[in-house]
Amino acid sequence: MNKSIQFDYAQALDLVSPEQQVAWPAKAAACMETLHEGTGAGKDFLGWLHLPSSTTPEEIADIQETAERLRSKCEVVVVIGIGGSYLGARAVIEALEHSFAQMEAGAKNRKDPVLVYAGNNISEDYLFEICRMLENRSFGLINISKSGTTTEPALAFRILRKMLEKNCGKEEARQRIVAITDARKGALRTLADREGYKTYVIPDNVGGRFSVLTPVGLLPIAVAGFDIGDLIDGAADMEASTALNVPIEENIAAQDAAVRNEMYAQGKKIEILANFHPKLHYLAEWWKQLYGESEGKEHKGLFPAAVDLTTDLHSMGQWMQEGERSIFETVVSVAAPNQRVVIPSDKDNLDGLNYLAHKRVDEVNKMAELGTRLAHVDGGVPNLKITLPELDAYYLGQLIYFFEKACGISGYWLGVNPFNQPGVEAYKKNMFALLGKPGYEKETEAIHKRLGE
Ligand code: PA5
Repeated sequence: MNKSIQFDYAQALDLVSPEQQVAWPAKAAACMETLHEGTGAGKDFLGWLHLPSSTTPEEIADIQETAERLRSKCEVVVVIGIGGSYLGARAVIEALEHSFAQMEAGAKNRKDPVLVYAGNNISEDYLFEICRMLENRSFGLINISKSGTTTEPALAFRILRKMLEKNCGKEEARQRIVAITDARKGALRTLADREGYKTYVIPDNVGGRFSVLTPVGLLPIAVAGFDIGDLIDGAADMEASTALNVPIEENIAAQDAAVRNEMYAQGKKIEILANFHPKLHYLAEWWKQLYGESEGKEHKGLFPAAVDLTTDLHSMGQWMQEGERSIFETVVSVAAPNQRVVIPSDKDNLDGLNYLAHKRVDEVNKMAELGTRLAHVDGGVPNLKITLPELDAYYLGQLIYFFEKACGISGYWLGVNPFNQPGVEAYKKNMFALLGKPGYEKETEAIHKRLGE
C-alpha cells in the first residue's frame, strides 16, 4: 500500500482547549457536506473535487502525446499564464526538476526541454530578456488563460507568437503552440480556433487556482518530463482519504481546516508556510494564491505568507521568533532526500565542523528544522507539520489535493465563498481606465479627474 503524507498539529494545541476541540467534528462534517453536496456559495466551481478520480487514461495519454511533440521540437518551452494558470505547474516542476536545470538549456545530451515562464508580469525588461534568450533557440509556447482575456498573458503571447512565426514560419509555429482555455468563449479561444492550434479545455466548473490537475498543470509538467500519472494517482488517493464519509479523526484536510480556523479565532492573523528545501519555493507561491484568493474577502481571512528555511532564518527568523505574536507556522517537511551528500572530515578542522563529519547534510537540515520548530513554539508560534515521505510526483499529487480540500473546507468554516475572487477586478478597472481601453470611457474620465489631470 502507498504511504500517505502526514499532518501533525500537536504543537498547536496549547492555544486550543479540549472544549473547543469538541466542536470540531460537527463543524467539519457540516462544511464537508456543504462542499460535497454543492449547497454552498460558489457551488458552480466544485469540479476540482473529483478531478483526480475522474481523469481517464485516455486524457493522460493525449496530454503525453502533445508533450512528446513539444519535447521533440523544442529546447525551451515558454509557459504563458498568470495566477492559477501557471503557479501549479511551476510548483510541481520546480519541486521535481534539477535545481540548475536552467543552466542546461541547449546543453548536449539534455533530453528534457527547459521550461520558462512569461505572462505573469508586465515588465518590459523581462519580455526583452526572454526574447533575447529565445532568439537562437528552438522554442514552443503553451498559452494558458481560462478567461482568455487576461492582459498579462495576452501581451506576452502576442509578442512571443510573432517572434516564433518569424523564426520558424507560421506552419511550424502552429505545431509548437498549444492553447489551454475555455471551451467556447474568450479571445484566446477565438484566436486558437482561427489558427488551428492544439487546444485543451479548462472545465467551466474548475477555477484557476484549483486547476493544476487539469491540462493547465498536467501539460507543462509532462513537457518537463515528469510523470503526470503518478501525480494524479497521488491526488486520487488523497481524494479517497478525505472523502465525505471520512470523519475528522482520519481526515487530515478537515483537521487542517479546523486548526487554522481555530488559530484565526484565537487572534492569529498570519499563517506562514515554511519549507527547508529551495525546490519548494513555488509550492508556497501556489499555496499563497490558493488561500489568499479563496479566503481573503469580506475583510476576513488569514494572510498566507511563506518562508524558505534555513535561508530566511537569517532574515525573517528574528521577526518570527520575537515579533508580533499574530502568526502560526505550517512546516512542509520532506522525510527523505532524493540525493546523498556526506560531510567529509578534515584533518585541520579549522572550520570546527568535524563534529558533523560522516553525517549526511540532510541530518543537519533535519536538526535545523526540529530546532526551529521547538524555538518557534517556545516563542509563542503554534506549529503545524505536513510530512512528505519523499519529494516525488505521487506525494506532490497528494499534497496538492490535500491543500485544495483543506482550503475548500476552511473557506466554508470561515464563512466566505472560497471559489470567487471579486477583489482582483479593482486594479484591472483602474489600469484599463488609465490606458484608455475601449468601453472604459467613463472610468477614464473619472480617474483623470481624480488625479487632477
Ligand atoms: O484563481 C484564479 O481564478 C486566478 O488567479 C486566475 O487563475 C488568474 O487571474 C488568471 O486568469 P486567466 O486564466 O483567466 O487568465
